Amino acid sequence: MAPNLDSFFQTVDSNADAFIERLRQAVAIPSISADEARRQDVVKMGMFLKAQLETLGAKMEARPLGKQPGKEHLELPPAVIGRYPAKKQEGKRTILVYGHYDVQPAEKSDGWNTEPFELSVDDKGRMYGRGSTDDKGPVLGWVNVIESHQKAGVDFPVNLLMCFEGMEEYGSEGLDDFIVAECKPGKFFEDADAVCISDNYWLGTEKPCLTYGLRGCSYYSIEISGPGQDLHSGVFGGTAQEPMTDLTRVMGSLVDTNGKIQIPGLYELVAPLTKEEQSLYSNIAFTMDNLYESLGSKTGIFDKKEETLMGRWRYPSLSLHGIEGAFSQPGAKTVIPAKVTGKFSIRTVPDMEPHEVDSLVFSYVKDQFAKLSSKNKLNVFLQHSGKWWVASPNHWNFTAAAKAVEKVWKIKPDLTREGGSIPVTLTFEQATGKNVLLLPMGSSTDAAHSINEKLDRKNYIEGIKLLGAYLHYVAEEPTS
Ligand code: BES
Ligand code: ZN
Repeated sequence: MAPNLDSFFQTVDSNADAFIERLRQAVAIPSISADEARRQDVVKMGMFLKAQLETLGAKMEARPLGKQPGKEHLELPPAVIGRYPAKKQEGKRTILVYGHYDVQPAEKSDGWNTEPFELSVDDKGRMYGRGSTDDKGPVLGWVNVIESHQKAGVDFPVNLLMCFEGMEEYGSEGLDDFIVAECKPGKFFEDADAVCISDNYWLGTEKPCLTYGLRGCSYYSIEISGPGQDLHSGVFGGTAQEPMTDLTRVMGSLVDTNGKIQIPGLYELVAPLTKEEQSLYSNIAFTMDNLYESLGSKTGIFDKKEETLMGRWRYPSLSLHGIEGAFSQPGAKTVIPAKVTGKFSIRTVPDMEPHEVDSLVFSYVKDQFAKLSSKNKLNVFLQHSGKWWVASPNHWNFTAAAKAVEKVWKIKPDLTREGGSIPVTLTFEQATGKNVLLLPMGSSTDAAHSINEKLDRKNYIEGIKLLGAYLHYVAEEPTS
């Protein structure tokens, strides 16, 4: 029997302004995990979330995760875990939800039109602010679902287990071991029947999707040093071997203009494309214009949608991110940097094993550097790595979510994979032994990680209905 969701939906609508206020409070906390100086704000955001859920009667705990690897003076932000209702309701399914309360860095001077840590809602209902779509809106979605059930007087359909972390944007440091430990018999996540993660986006702006795959991410640094200190290029240019010259040549040898990775052997690790998989791409609601709209330009690598989707979902990519120690201010400073660290990452796909990728990367970088016959010193190392994940969408968890999408958005969702990474997805799947679903709230134009990140009011409010409806359908779905 289809659940009656009317009074829950009406309550979401009538509390919409309060839910936006809650998002405003959350966005105001600059919980940037990559910035040591902001660590107290990350903790503050975790505590804000915990307090909001406690007020609603959930049983919450902030679990310490220890020191940050490589930065022993720095405590990791806690895993905020919880259960709602506080006491387990026997005979109901238990759904474990995950999200992250940390955000990417943001400065107004990066090019934002508004203050990044002040939620700013325009007349079209676009709610701008760092973390609005990634991932504070979706995380608060779960809080709003609980509150709406209470206000509507509707029985909560499942036991909800929650796991919210504060280091996702930095590779989920410390969380893997914690999840594995808490999925053991007698521990907090022991009785999860399925997992739901709301931390990705629709492919376009009109059609919702359910996501069953993510790429992995292996993040590397190349450090090149030589002189004892920064030098004057007038005095030493032409007499000293320059680290930056070596670094840009090594970095420039990693990938070409069309995204082709130059590391020998890397593509041999990639699972071949089957006919069955190939046939999936043309049916996905995605156009080249969706890509151009999100890019803000027409500088895509491929002209066809199928190749574009495959380039994003099922082939590896290598991106160059930045150079630490290089001169990057405006103006013209005649410096020779003494030590520079180049950063790049590889998005990995089935069947690439991270340690095999590492050894191909290390030997290629060393070979390229050796070819330069430089007297400078090279050090190449891995910063973090998270594995790719591909699951089966033929499961009651996905069937229930598809019904919820149809109920709320009046359209069947596409089944998609994604190019981004959520490192703990595979860990949840392996540690619980249960199905994991990605159920996005925001859309392709939300600009996560970029300037002017936003979440549309409609996606937030209908997204709250979607998360709630999903819990009702999941409670009723027969075992598949
Ligand atoms: N929400 C994203 C993950 C994502 C991005 C899913 C795009 C689907 C499409 C998440 O917050 C994120 O950005 N993760 C990092 C992880 C990395 C640091 C290991 C990422 O993908 O860069
Ligand atoms: Zn995210």
